[in-house]
Amino acid sequence: MVQRLLLLLLVLSSQLGFLHALPCFQCSRVNASGVCVTKEGVCETRGSQRCFLRKVYEDGTLSYGYQGCSSVCYPLALFNPAVTLEEKCCDDSPFCNKF
Ligand SMILES: *[C@@H]1O[C@H](CO)[C@@H](O)[C@H](O)[C@H]1NC(C)=O
Repeated sequence: MVQRLLLLLLVLSSQLGFLHALPCFQCSRVNASGVCVTKEGVCETRGSQRCFLRKVYEDGTLSYGYQGCSSVCYPLALFNPAVTLEEKCCDDSPFCNKF
């Protein structure tokens, strides 16, 4: 019982550290020149979320990107030789996921 309480306390306190909300750029499509071509917005990180910026390269050239808040982050994922996904996540400053 005591152990369970301690565990709960530990979980809660580790969550508290993430409670500060950080504003991030949100855009579901940023073109290759860095212009948001869809509705541009702002999201705020919640829980363990961070700002992310994903860039999609096709045949080695930047094709498009997107921005937002996410709790999952894959530093680099390769779909196939022609398409590369580059992902950057950050939580060190507001709007740190600038394209
Ligand atoms: C990105 O969008 C802007 C504004 O619509 C446009 O001027 C620019 O040419 C676009 N860039 C590319 C690479 O499509």
